Amino acid sequence: MSDASNTGDDNTFQAEPAEPPRVVVLISGNGSNLQALIDAQSYDELGGEIVAVVSNKADAYGLKRARDAGIEAVALPHQEYESREAYDGALIKVIERHEPDLIALAGFMRILTPIFVQRFFGRLLNIHPSLLPAYQGLNTHARALADGAREHGASVHFVTEELDGGPVALQAVVNIAADDTEATLKEKVQAREHLIYPIAVRWFLEGRLQLVGDDVTFDDTPLPPTGLRLSHADAAEELDENDAT
Ligand code: GRF
Repeated sequence: MSDASNTGDDNTFQAEPAEPPRVVVLISGNGSNLQALIDAQSYDELGGEIVAVVSNKADAYGLKRARDAGIEAVALPHQEYESREAYDGALIKVIERHEPDLIALAGFMRILTPIFVQRFFGRLLNIHPSLLPAYQGLNTHARALADGAREHGASVHFVTEELDGGPVALQAVVNIAADDTEATLKEKVQAREHLIYPIAVRWFLEGRLQLVGDDVTFDDTPLPPTGLRLSHADAAEELDENDAT
């Protein structure tokens, strides 16, 4: 599409407003991270538009969140496909129909095939409830507590073929308190997820955050393996938590 149009017969040209970058969000459940992205969009802070939400579970509450926000909500139940490859093939088709600049995984509980990852390589972000590379996989809060870890947190990372193993873009730390339980820790980590995911999405859509080879760059500078890191104190202050020590 041309970005300029002839506005009349006086040969004056006027720039058309650029289309906002397009985001497809993949979910499987509650969709609280999706909600954080929707909220950011409603405050004009996402840097783009969520054009569709796709869930592999038809009863995912996140689909209702999408519909309530006027966003196309697509249920694509994986049980209806005989193999992971067949499912991912169908998912690729649904996603490509929406011509996204970014695919944001937000609690999408599926292992992705290499074909899927390669198709969207460099345009796939995920949010994970740990300070990667620590605690890849499930039950991260319980594992951190069982290890007696002093700190925990959330990471936004680019998706590669290694599960939860792609390069990290942004992290937020939470100090583990002596009286933390799995439930309290999950709550603190989720607050940090909701804080950093919209920021990472905006930076990606603005072209500031990129995957270059195996590195994440921010404003063209390669980031360390932990990405950009929001300290416990800074995150707690942002979130108005009492204990900002
Ligand atoms: C989050 O903890 C996220 O880090 C993980 O899955 C959970 C999804 O939660 N990948 P929600 O559906 O966004 O509430």
